[in-house]
Amino acid sequence: MENLKELDRFIKSSFRKVSKIIDKIEYKVENKTNERDLVTEVDREMERLITEAIKSRFPDHTILGEETYNPEKDYSSDNLWVIDPIDGTTNFVKQFYDFSTLLAYFENGEPMLSYIYDIKKDELYSAMKGEGVYKNDEKIETPENLGLNETLISVDIRRTYQYMPELFGKLVMEGFGMRSVGGSGLDGIRVIEGRFGAYMNFSGGPWDFAPYYLFCDELGLVFKNLDGETPSLSGYSNYIIATSKVYEDFKKILDELGELK
Ligand code: IPD
Ligand code: CA
Ligand code: CA
Repeated sequence: MENLKELDRFIKSSFRKVSKIIDKIEYKVENKTNERDLVTEVDREMERLITEAIKSRFPDHTILGEETYNPEKDYSSDNLWVIDPIDGTTNFVKQFYDFSTLLAYFENGEPMLSYIYDIKKDELYSAMKGEGVYKNDEKIETPENLGLNETLISVDIRRTYQYMPELFGKLVMEGFGMRSVGGSGLDGIRVIEGRFGAYMNFSGGPWDFAPYYLFCDELGLVFKNLDGETPSLSGYSNYIIATSKVYEDFKKILDELGELK
């Protein structure tokens, strides 16, 4: 593998090039699994361009992208890239704001590079193994370890309310306050920057959480599923990214409710 720093520069410049398509493509809004699960030509074209950029340099690497994902395929690889071309497609369609592109690179299963790019704000969050986390060129410090009653938290509102109403109610009442940006990428970033104490998603694909592994390793944040294990890239999972204090508070609530144990 080439020098990681050079690879990082290549990815950052590719991102800025390909993201220019967001307001250049005419698109129709289509549904995927249900009426609220949206996709557009922009999602597919973004994934195609990022894939093309990676493959032009590393033809043998494996790409796991949301829009081309095949659940039957074995994605285990020594050189794996995971792409969510537009995270927050609902925000993209409804507000043209608060959507991002997610990319993560794993070598022999180890997270090496992670990116969350807020295209509209041109804010690129990145991490390289052992080098910390950056927002553009500014280093992000480890967030303060606050508990649930001291911080704002975020959840995937609809599904958490629908499938875990008691947990949802407890989080609303016991947390300092609940907010939601509406995208796993940018809600996760709020935790990484210390603005939220946690973000929980009831069920996301590997592309929704792939960048979290390295961001959390570098900043000492917790990234687990609700059974207390590290989520696997091999399929869909619930997950929480949190300070360790908020994570302990979550566990207590889940124990009290006897949920997911
Ligand atoms: C979705 C968003 C949403 C989250 C869903 C994700 P998409 O990703 O991150 O906030 O609640 O679980 O699937 O479909 O916009 O890439
Ligand atoms: Ca997503
Ligand atoms: Ca997406």
